[in-house]
Amino acid sequence: MTSSDIRKKYIEFFTDQIRKHKEIAPAPLVPENDPTTLFTSSGMQPLVPYLLGQTHPEGKRIVDSQPCFRAEDIEEVGDNRHTTFFEMLGNWSLGDYFKEDQLKWFWEFLTEEVKLPKEKLYVSIFEGDDSVPEDKESYEIWKNLGVAEDHIYKYGVKKNWWSRSGTPDKMPVGEIGGPDSEVFYDFGKELSFHEKSDWKNESCHPNCDCGRFMEIGNSVFIQYIKQADGSLKELDQKNVDFGGGLERITAASLNHPDIFQTDLYLPIIRIIEQTTSKKYEGENKSPMRVIADHIKAAAFLINDGVIPSNKLQGYILRRLLRRSATKFYQLTKDMKFLGEMLKVYHAILSIYDGLYGMEKRENSDSYLLEKNYKIIFDEMDKFSKALARGFHEIDKIEKMDGKIAFDFYQNLGFPYEVTEELFRQKGQEIDREQFKSEFEKHRELSRTASAGMFKGGLADHSEVTIKYHTATHLLHQALRDVLGESVFQKGSNITSERLRFDFSFDRKMTDEEIKETEEIINKKIEEDLKVDRMIIPIEKAREMNAIGLFNDKYAKEVSIYAIGLDFKLDSDSKDQRSRGGYYSLEFCGGPHVEHTGVIGRVKIMKEEAISSGIRRIRAQIV
Ligand code: SER
Repeated sequence: MTSSDIRKKYIEFFTDQIRKHKEIAPAPLVPENDPTTLFTSSGMQPLVPYLLGQTHPEGKRIVDSQPCFRAEDIEEVGDNRHTTFFEMLGNWSLGDYFKEDQLKWFWEFLTEEVKLPKEKLYVSIFEGDDSVPEDKESYEIWKNLGVAEDHIYKYGVKKNWWSRSGTPDKMPVGEIGGPDSEVFYDFGKELSFHEKSDWKNESCHPNCDCGRFMEIGNSVFIQYIKQADGSLKELDQKNVDFGGGLERITAASLNHPDIFQTDLYLPIIRIIEQTTSKKYEGENKSPMRVIADHIKAAAFLINDGVIPSNKLQGYILRRLLRRSATKFYQLTKDMKFLGEMLKVYHAILSIYDGLYGMEKRENSDSYLLEKNYKIIFDEMDKFSKALARGFHEIDKIEKMDGKIAFDFYQNLGFPYEVTEELFRQKGQEIDREQFKSEFEKHRELSRTASAGMFKGGLADHSEVTIKYHTATHLLHQALRDVLGESVFQKGSNITSERLRFDFSFDRKMTDEEIKETEEIINKKIEEDLKVDRMIIPIEKAREMNAIGLFNDKYAKEVSIYAIGLDFKLDSDSKDQRSRGGYYSLEFCGGPHVEHTGVIGRVKIMKEEAISSGIRRIRAQIV
């Protein structure tokens, strides 16, 4: 079965007359209005406000296919199933159906629509811990569906609990999650293409990572929210959050454990083979998989407006492209591959032609004029030259050790194996353990530094963060009151300690303007204005001059937060009348405080330029 067949069947299955789901448009890969995260890393992420109880404009049953990006998996790419970019098929019950329907429907989809043989499917359920009981209900449901008892496995929080932040102890206050039930496909222990063979003489199980089993779907029962005292509280609304990787389900339908052999990757792999004059076999597989995944992810990120830089999303994009250049270099030992990059790009766009804003051109040469392609090429070109210089430098080093090898790896992207092989020719063995320990030290550091942000999991919906969110809306409108309508949000980042707001404006603000902005915000807070959420047709929102970023380009109805309805319309804000009498009217998924009075006093700490025509304000609640 092709990936397009599976994507189509899944949406049709859940939108049919029995299941009655509504299909929603996927969210952008870079969330435009969610300051807590860098990337959309799961299908549920754009739905958090609705899982928390807000009314979704499309109802209680939602389905979609969501492009996702997981930066934290970057080092995992290279085996048969891990990627940074993937498409997640998702369906949700927002306080509607629960375990029984979900497990039955997914089973039916896999066995009757995708026609996977039942005996090849294994499932897992949550075994329970001190605070949440074993999921006996799911166990019984699977048994009643005909799953043999020796195909049902029980695991603890590490495997069968899902929240964006991981296990319950890692969930921040306000984060939602719950026990889950996964389905695995068994590629069979006889097959010769398993890449690790540890399982051969040991007892393998669905969650063993030898490559025999592949997880193809995860039904999360989102029914808990983390409390300030560390406990988990039952949500009033019990939700289902299902996600399944399209790449993996396609691999299962082909009974082939390598997702890079599905139609979502094979055309890219073929071009990489041509470009490098190497075959996709043996030790070439891993670098080719990295290239295919990373350039695909880069093409999607660039399509969403990211450009390589040293910060946030741009930094990740840069890393993807540099790692790809290194792997090409490793395979070819020259830079001829750059001349063929167009074909790689063309192969990627051809796979997704007409989907997610991707469009192929007639032939690969016509991308030459396209700026997105140029971004990829220029970054790889620059870096490959640096890499070639690095080869020169490394040759000068007399005695290589694990620490220097790590520096080369970290700063120039030199693969450890390449350094090892250079020096082996000189008769030197590098201390691999030293390299590994440097690597781990760095990994731990960057994990701590970027925890949450890169994971897509800050999900900090704590009380104070919500206050900052509403304060940001007030700031946005106050800036427009003081500086005029050329002010428009360019970025926003909120933590529980401060807000950071980027906006278009072409000069430094004067002290008076800063003071006036601050005064307006604090006045609006003192007035204790009511904050309302509305779901209205998109045309109506535009008509009312709602500001903010249009998160969902294709939605018919949108979510708007409105602050301070004033019927008298004698307020300071001159264009309040045009906003239907609201002081602030902004596209947003929330959450927000109910009344501005709870926010406290807002103080602007800093106003500075961050690039030409873009200013940044940092403010705190004091
Ligand atoms: N949120 C779950 C996941 O990402 C299921 O959608 O796996």
